[in-house]
Amino acid sequence: MKYRHACHAGNFADVVKHVVLVATLARLVRKERTFFYLDTHAGRARYDLGSRDTAGEAAHGILRLAAADPARLPPPVRQYLALIRAFAPENEVSLRWYPGSPYIAAALLRPGDRAALCDVEPGEAAQLGREFHGDRRFGVHCRDGFEALRALLPPPEKRGLALIDPPYEQQETDLERVADALAGTAGRWPEGVLAAWYPIKLAAVIARFHRRLSGAGLRRLLAAELCVHPDDSRAGLNGSGMLLVNPPWQLDTDLRAALPALHRILAPDGAGRWRVDWLVRE
Ligand SMILES: C[S@@+](CC[C@H](N)C(=O)[O-])C[C@H]1O[C@@H](n2cnc3c(N)ncnc32)[C@H](O)[C@@H]1O
Repeated sequence: MKYRHACHAGNFADVVKHVVLVATLARLVRKERTFFYLDTHAGRARYDLGSRDTAGEAAHGILRLAAADPARLPPPVRQYLALIRAFAPENEVSLRWYPGSPYIAAALLRPGDRAALCDVEPGEAAQLGREFHGDRRFGVHCRDGFEALRALLPPPEKRGLALIDPPYEQQETDLERVADALAGTAGRWPEGVLAAWYPIKLAAVIARFHRRLSGAGLRRLLAAELCVHPDDSRAGLNGSGMLLVNPPWQLDTDLRAALPALHRILAPDGAGRWRVDWLVRE
């Protein structure tokens, strides 16, 4: 596998994904009952923005957002930014270290909640194991994330969230795999919340992906997308989206406040677009 998330950590797509993750978890913790968090493609959880690989993309992502006035940000974006700042070691004010999805979840999960973090790459899984060694809420697995969806869900807690964030080295095949995984998992775990990240390059490919999902019998399917380049431009990655199956109550409202604010900051030239739409309602 060629993909290395360290090269993309803190980029605009990571920011959008992690704001949606924070907003979703913030809604889940409002209810007292404990829940289970599954991160199927967890990554190594800690990224050095000071490295040459990462600095370029983060400059158009988290570092742009960090320069904004927090008082003017909508609540989930403000909460996300506070969490990223809190990840810095004591006495360090610069944003050198960026937390991946496992640490973002760790900041929001409560003592009774439980999580499983999976990565198929032995080096990433070993690093994850070191990072979460002392946290008894978290189990780390070196295994295929799609297989983990079948093996670990539904969880005994019944409530929970699965984040599906594959590298999309073969974009169309992975989109089909994600659509099938969402449909299969939702069928077995109707109470669960599912969140899947996807890259946006060609609009026609995404329209096909959405049609496949809408025809898969899924209910309560929300798409949140943010693009920083016009559709079909040759920038490489024009934008990204999160598909949410069975999202918590009012998450759509939270995201309709968060995404336009993020778009103003992440696309200062006004290029691209954002949307938060139900692909399928009840
Ligand atoms: C996009 S990165 C994950 C980023 C992370 N979720 C975050 O938001 O910080 C994708 C990760 O999936 C891992 N991976 C690739 N194929 C996998 C598979 N079949 N099962 C589990 N992990 C996989 C890669 O090693 C990589 O660390």
